[in-house]
Amino acid sequence: MARRRQLYEGKAKILFEGPEPGTLVQYFKDDATAFNAQKKGTITGKGVLNNRISEFLMTKLAEINVPTHFIRRLNMREQLIKEVEIIPVEVVVRNIAAGSLAQRLGIPEGTRLPRSIVEYYYKNDQLGDPMVAEEHITAFGWATPPDMDDIVHLTLRINDFLTGLFLGVGITLVDFKLEFGRLYENEDMRIVLADEISPDNCRLWDVKTNEKMDKDRFRRDLGKIEEAYQEVARRLGILPEAGSRDMKGPETMQ
Ligand code: TMP
Ligand code: ASP
Repeated sequence: MARRRQLYEGKAKILFEGPEPGTLVQYFKDDATAFNAQKKGTITGKGVLNNRISEFLMTKLAEINVPTHFIRRLNMREQLIKEVEIIPVEVVVRNIAAGSLAQRLGIPEGTRLPRSIVEYYYKNDQLGDPMVAEEHITAFGWATPPDMDDIVHLTLRINDFLTGLFLGVGITLVDFKLEFGRLYENEDMRIVLADEISPDNCRLWDVKTNEKMDKDRFRRDLGKIEEAYQEVARRLGILPEAGSRDMKGPETMQ
């Protein structure tokens, strides 16, 4: 089989042409960046773990009828996804104050918010993903008001579901980032969940100790990054049977 054509390379993933029209292959790298790529590094085995974790969470979400781009996992680092038109908005949901919200508003990290807060950021690396309001999104045509209704509705359902799922395995879902895309099927267009859900784009704290089990360990140089991602996978019951040694092996590209 000919090597697949690469369509796009992002900071943590590569997209290849899929085996049939309307599909793509999403490859998970070990590369990690933070602060709009000012900080760069590698987290060994991260791609393998995020591929698994995102597969698991998107499959669970599909079971409660949240439409996603995920089709199936292909191998250790790749999954087959539906090709969607990505909406250039990062949707952040916060349940507990942390990160930029804690900093911007001077709220101590760890404070439970009076209710879940949804924020939007314009996906533009050159501008450093600035925060925007729904007004900007609809005025500039990044998404329509009906698109935004779907996005908010889906986001709140995803938050409720994932909060419960993580709580069940002793993890507090502090906040996370989602991306959505437009899926065109026949004459129809549907908003679906895209990208990935993994410790790269969630804040996950141990319920008992509040220990960080996510990319903040990399952002803040806390160490034990691989171990934290592995622990998330282990608690979700999805570590490969051979254990963690399996995670670092050479991966096949097709
Ligand atoms: P923040 O507190 O830095 O704004 O991050 C909020 C959440 O969004 C956190 O779970 C990390 C995630 N996130 C991303 O996935 N990508 C990003 O570029 C940023 C800034 C945050
Ligand atoms: N992913 C973003 C970056 O590379 C930021 C982050 O996750 O902190 O810059």
